[in-house]
Amino acid sequence: MTILRDDFIWGASTAAHQVEGDNIASDFWAVEHSPAGLLPEKSGSACDSFHRYREDIRLAAAGGLKAYRFSIEWARIEPADGDFSRAALLHYRDMIDACHEYGLEPIITLHHFTCPLWFTLGGGIQRADAADRFAAYVRQVSEILHDVRWIITINEPNILNLMSGLTAVIGENPGTERAPAGGVAAGNAEHGADDVEAAAPTERMAALPAPSLELAPKLIAMHAAARAVLRQTVPQAQVGWAIAAQAFTPTPGNDEAFERVFHHWEGVYLDATGEDDFIGVQAYTSQPVDASGPVPHPDSPENTLTGWAYRPDALGINLRRYWERYGKPLLVTENGIATSDDARRIAYTTEALRGLIAAVADGADVRGYCHWSLLDNYEWGRWEPTFGLIAVDRERDFARMPKPSLAWLGRIAAENAASLEPGA
Ligand code: BGC
Repeated sequence: MTILRDDFIWGASTAAHQVEGDNIASDFWAVEHSPAGLLPEKSGSACDSFHRYREDIRLAAAGGLKAYRFSIEWARIEPADGDFSRAALLHYRDMIDACHEYGLEPIITLHHFTCPLWFTLGGGIQRADAADRFAAYVRQVSEILHDVRWIITINEPNILNLMSGLTAVIGENPGTERAPAGGVAAGNAEHGADDVEAAAPTERMAALPAPSLELAPKLIAMHAAARAVLRQTVPQAQVGWAIAAQAFTPTPGNDEAFERVFHHWEGVYLDATGEDDFIGVQAYTSQPVDASGPVPHPDSPENTLTGWAYRPDALGINLRRYWERYGKPLLVTENGIATSDDARRIAYTTEALRGLIAAVADGADVRGYCHWSLLDNYEWGRWEPTFGLIAVDRERDFARMPKPSLAWLGRIAAENAASLEPGA
């Protein structure tokens, strides 16, 4: 008997655009190729996982993992408005089959940051028919999900909210830079209101402006529409969405500011999980909140390759908070660290998992843990921040090189983290 459930899910995650390569019908590909030079690096062939997914899945299983979270790319399923690709659909079905063959639980994300270019050029998530169009795509995909048990409709709506400022540029004046380049992801919140223009476009460690509260209802409508289709078509599936959890902590006397910031960044999306089966939690770092908002990460040699503070305790903070406030089953869908030092990855993850175990010991219902990421991959504009349990030789032949952290996590999975329990 361990503290964690017997059926606790141990896995690793990826996202299509970050690993597949040549995602040419997507809006992010257009952003990468914008003459405005919005991003320092392009995704190119990425890790060529579009062709090498069997190897990825085999390596995950050989490393001892029990689940693989990956995303289905809308831009491949519907590369042109209303044209659905049967071949792309069957490609993703084959990925699900490969997971089953190797004994991995497939955890499917239906939307991970990228949209088809036609959708974004037509207004993206601001389109009046955004929820309907997303639901139409989900309906097509549901055909291949008949035996899938975990589905995430949208990855990090709170960060997608910000990224839509970046992708909107391609539909407007290509000379206008409106959102931060050099990597957009969870964990680097800034002061500020509904103003994507506030962000520095080229600074490597640019902080993110706050997501727009105006866009939140559009994202919530997309989620609800997708969930409605899934309830009808794949009733066996657990459905939820995955939130970029910032582990904000109030500085003394700033509880009100904290509540405001929490609502703005996370609460508004969490409040929409009432009819979901679980909440996906994605945790990397933590930030204090003072009277004016989140305090940017000060420079420190301890900061990770994304410029975020080294805060393995972020996972436990978020899990406790979400459990206390929402009381829903939680699935850790991402947690990890950008580092070139794999021993540091193991140290970070050890602490993060200790925080998870302590939260479970205190009552939180946590169903599983998926590490970000299975592979070193394209970090939305840059290749340098390496989050992977497996390195990839992108210059030569896409050879996969598992790092010690993969076998380490596999051993933790085999013992259900018994060795990380207090007193072990
Ligand atoms: C995203 C990933 C990203 C990771 C690290 C999350 O915001 O879902 O796509 O690579 O964090 O930045």
